[in-house]
Amino acid sequence: MNYEQTKELLKRNGQEQLLRFWDELDETGKEKLLRNIERLDFAVLENLKHPQNLSGEGSRLSPVKGLSVAEIEANEQRFKTIGNEALKSGKIAGLLLAGGQGTRLGTEGPKGAFNMGVTRELSIFACQMNNILNDLRESGARPLLLVMTSEKNNEETQEFWKENGYFGYDAEKVRFFVQDAAPCTDMNGKILPEEKDTPATSPNGNGGWFSSLKKSGLYEELKNGGAEWLNVYAVDNVLQRPFDPVFIGATLESGKACGAKCVRKNSPQEKVGVLCEKDGKAAVIEYYELTEETANARAADGSLEYSYGVILNYLFSLERLEETERETIPVHIVKKKIPYVNERGEKCEPQRENGLKFETLAVDLISFMGSVLPCEVRREKEFAPVKNATGADSVETARALLELNGVTL
Ligand code: UTP
Repeated sequence: MNYEQTKELLKRNGQEQLLRFWDELDETGKEKLLRNIERLDFAVLENLKHPQNLSGEGSRLSPVKGLSVAEIEANEQRFKTIGNEALKSGKIAGLLLAGGQGTRLGTEGPKGAFNMGVTRELSIFACQMNNILNDLRESGARPLLLVMTSEKNNEETQEFWKENGYFGYDAEKVRFFVQDAAPCTDMNGKILPEEKDTPATSPNGNGGWFSSLKKSGLYEELKNGGAEWLNVYAVDNVLQRPFDPVFIGATLESGKACGAKCVRKNSPQEKVGVLCEKDGKAAVIEYYELTEETANARAADGSLEYSYGVILNYLFSLERLEETERETIPVHIVKKKIPYVNERGEKCEPQRENGLKFETLAVDLISFMGSVLPCEVRREKEFAPVKNATGADSVETARALLELNGVTL
């Protein structure tokens, strides 16, 4: 697009401010700005004009039946055999969500490169890959592993994997793709300039993985390779166990379109999203959307009715995912601190939320799947989130859990 066409496009979208510094840019800067504007997804801003009702208010919730640890252990060998067969046959592939910015952790660089070690280098990526190699020992399988990065961390992530010899995995089985970005605006919906030649953008949330995967062209490769199920997992749990044959076997045997690893909520107030049914369809409800009464509801045996907390480790049927493509994933508008260049051309690092980001959430995909099987895992063995630098769900708590599981730090 040339200057005139870009100006026209911005006018139609009420975003002419992005050309404010045009006259100050050299030829390279001008070209860069035009290219950057062309890539912007303006459609996402429509959500400001027509906000969707995402609160779940007025919906009918009911508990969903899952598999408890005891039930899984009682059938472990059978599930494992089914899972290992599926792994060996190439039906299973993995997708690591590593496009987040990890702002709460507050470190530079990809979150997965964060060093959990104390006396040695042990990145989050390495912790997870060690678990994977362990789980694949019996089957000897090497499923295709896709790593979703963002424009902000793609190069560094790829470099880190290369430097670390793909953490003992087969390099040719690892593929990277970049998730889409969405523009960031001020509180009035005007896109902020991050630099004079660069509009502010941010990764469009962890729910955008399926559309980004399709755009990347890797989906074709996945299907041609015979994959039927995708194990999608988050980077920020150092005890994460994707490619767990028992979980895979349990999900496949259930006939459901999706399996979800879950921990039992340790109290009605625990801040995790819970799996349930919303108007008869599988859904994840965030803790702040549960009423006091629902959060405290108990079954006949005294256990919490809404007790399956999700840990972002899902097995999705690709066939079902394809059917959901017609559905539009909701866009959440989140207030965040967004660095920007002010009208005088000065760079500003806001101390408080100054703008809006547009994000899709992986949990919203669950409601498209129709049916889901919650599989309970032991919290102390599989759930050590690294969200914050200190306090709850932090590097300290995750290190303690790694040690508890026999990992040398
Ligand atoms: P979080 O929701 O914890 O976000 O991500 P985050 O960006 O890592 O951390 P904060 O909120 O800035 O502190 C949960 C998982 O989803 C991935 C993350 O990499 C993590 O594995 N994610 C998140 C993406 O892949 N893309 C995104 O746009 C956001």
